[in-house]
Amino acid sequence: MQETMRAAYLPGDSTVAMRTAPVPAPGHGEVLLRVKASTICGSDIRCIYHEHLGKGPERYQGVIAGHEPCGQIMATGEGCRRFKTGDRVIVYHISGCGVCNDCRRGYMISCTSETYRRAYGWQRDGGMAEYMVAEEKDLIALPSELSYADGAQVACGFGTVYEGLEKMGVNGDHAVLITGLGPVGLAAAALSRKLGANKILGIDLVPERMKIALDLGLCDAVLPSGPGNVEEVRKLTGGCGAERTVDCSAHPEARATAIRATRKWGKIVLVGEGGTMEINPSPDMIHDQKTVYGSWVTSTWRMEELVERLVRWDLHPADIITHRFPLERAAEAYALMASGKCGKVAVCQDEELF
Ligand SMILES: NC(=O)c1ccc[n+]([C@@H]2O[C@H](COP(=O)([O-])OP(=O)(O)OC[C@H]3O[C@@H](n4cnc5c(N)ncnc54)[C@H](O)[C@@H]3O)[C@@H](O)[C@H]2O)c1
Ligand SMILES: [Zn+2]
Ligand SMILES: [Zn+2]
Repeated sequence: MQETMRAAYLPGDSTVAMRTAPVPAPGHGEVLLRVKASTICGSDIRCIYHEHLGKGPERYQGVIAGHEPCGQIMATGEGCRRFKTGDRVIVYHISGCGVCNDCRRGYMISCTSETYRRAYGWQRDGGMAEYMVAEEKDLIALPSELSYADGAQVACGFGTVYEGLEKMGVNGDHAVLITGLGPVGLAAAALSRKLGANKILGIDLVPERMKIALDLGLCDAVLPSGPGNVEEVRKLTGGCGAERTVDCSAHPEARATAIRATRKWGKIVLVGEGGTMEINPSPDMIHDQKTVYGSWVTSTWRMEELVERLVRWDLHPADIITHRFPLERAAEAYALMASGKCGKVAVCQDEELF
């Protein structure tokens, strides 16, 4: 076993620093993973890559980047109870204390322990490296039907979207509107399709992204972002508006569109993070009996449920990956994701690098 490895760090000036680091040893209850796929999230770009903006749980502490890892177990530390060498696993990307109320619900994202809550790629070393150490309790088994690149996307994006859609409930009664067609919005479209949505509409600004949504058959219609969006969505939904809407843009105007283009009694989930929004509560929400949910990542149990459904649905999250890079070229991968002219961007090793 090699003693050192290459790893990517984000100094915060829109660059990537490649460094050599020791291959870590798994401690009690931990495993050593060979990282096979590690995907880049909009949050990495927003809070870390351009500048270190994050506060609290989003504060980057100079660790190895990457919070969407998936790989194979190479070694287990003392005290592991379920997983063993050779197992293929997804890393739920926040390691919580395990004993607070939120952790006990499986929502380690919301762990209240200031000492023990550490997210991979933010406060503890993440997946942009040849190897990484993860706690066994943070692992989700990756079924043989799914690739490591499929799994990496479950670690954050698909898991997050699945949670939001399940909170609102999406089924064949619903037209779904998605504002923001980045990888998270594309995931919302892919999952809404499998949940049975009868029409899927998307809004974005970037032509490359709008094209991906149509080319992959994820959206039935895509609208360029603009002041006429509410009317356009109504026209495409029999004059009513969408029954279910997901905002994956975090843009104030797109958020307002998301709420206004939703039908009476409809439901909206806000997933895109940061920024603000301005609405007029009476006409936009109260008089039309609408519900807005906030949704942050997901729980470990729901991530397991999603993985099981992906297999039954024959849905492969890796289909929205448009670019794969070897680890040494991580800088190109982050720059491309920051440009927005892509679907999902992955840094891969071994069999996932093709
Ligand atoms: N809630 C959570 O748990 C959670 C988890 C993961 C990611 N996120 C957030 O979800 C968002 C999406 O993530 P991503 O990886 O797809 O990021 P992204 O930045 O690639 O995607 C955002 C998309 O919104 C589009 N957009 C911007 N302004 C718009 C407008 N006015 N109208 C329509 N579209 C507009 C952009 O062109 C882009 O395609 C980010 O804000 C990210 O931080 C939230
Ligand atoms: Zn993420
Ligand atoms: Zn906790």
